[in-house]
Amino acid sequence: MAVTDPSRDPGVPRHVAIVMDGNGRWARKRLMPRGMGHKAGVDALVRVVQACADRHIDYLTVFAFSSENWKRPEEEVSGLMSLLIVALSKHLTKLRSDGVRIRVVGDLSTVSDKVREALLDAQTKTAHNDRLVLTVAFNYGGRWDIVQAAQRALAANLKPEMLDEATLSRFMAMSYAPDPDLFIRTGGEVRLSNFLLWQSAYAELVFTDCLWPDFDERELDKALADYAQRERRFGDVGASGDESGGPSDAGVA
Ligand code: FPP
Repeated sequence: MAVTDPSRDPGVPRHVAIVMDGNGRWARKRLMPRGMGHKAGVDALVRVVQACADRHIDYLTVFAFSSENWKRPEEEVSGLMSLLIVALSKHLTKLRSDGVRIRVVGDLSTVSDKVREALLDAQTKTAHNDRLVLTVAFNYGGRWDIVQAAQRALAANLKPEMLDEATLSRFMAMSYAPDPDLFIRTGGEVRLSNFLLWQSAYAELVFTDCLWPDFDERELDKALADYAQRERRFGDVGASGDESGGPSDAGVA
């Protein structure tokens, strides 16, 4: 687990999750093939990893390939797989020396041996780093995660009455990390697309029209500034609540 400074600024999220959307449109605007958008997306990811580490964010989780992305044309899927392997071999040395720990979540049983080995190798080679934990969600889906957690809980012979939220959380793929504080989606769509459904129950959501390859330090800082202004209540009335009741008592958030 990343080492956390106890005096860390509460206005800075400890865990940021990102749906990196808009690569295809970025490429289309430039009359380029979609694959060029994904390639530029890798460059954006490298920038954002560095920026998150510089801003003392402990965990960054990115949706690199969803369980639904197999529906894309075969050429795009195989392009994404090759790009992943190339990107890991190109950037791994720098990520290692920058103190980034790579972790992978998702169903790796159905990806090719080459892709699985590249991901697990990156995970092993960075296992001793603790500046920033970069979780790559690959062949991941939030519903898959909940189902696999339930299956593993049953396999561990847990009795129904022993199963509560804290217990099931221990079987979720990201049990090593705190829940995301800030969930960012680029590319203008306003939906979760089956990413970290369980873990994002109380995440602050930021949606931006910025296409992922254009996302940079400035865009990250805009999302962080938005986050810093949110009042996180976790179901309570929060600092602005009062005993006489009022609008803030009506909600459940
Ligand atoms: C969504 O954009 C993006 C993806 C499906 C892949 C995200 C991947 C990267 C940023 C590169 C790093 C990851 C790997 C696997 C190398 P889109 O294609 O849906 O864009 P569109 O909505 O504009 O069509």
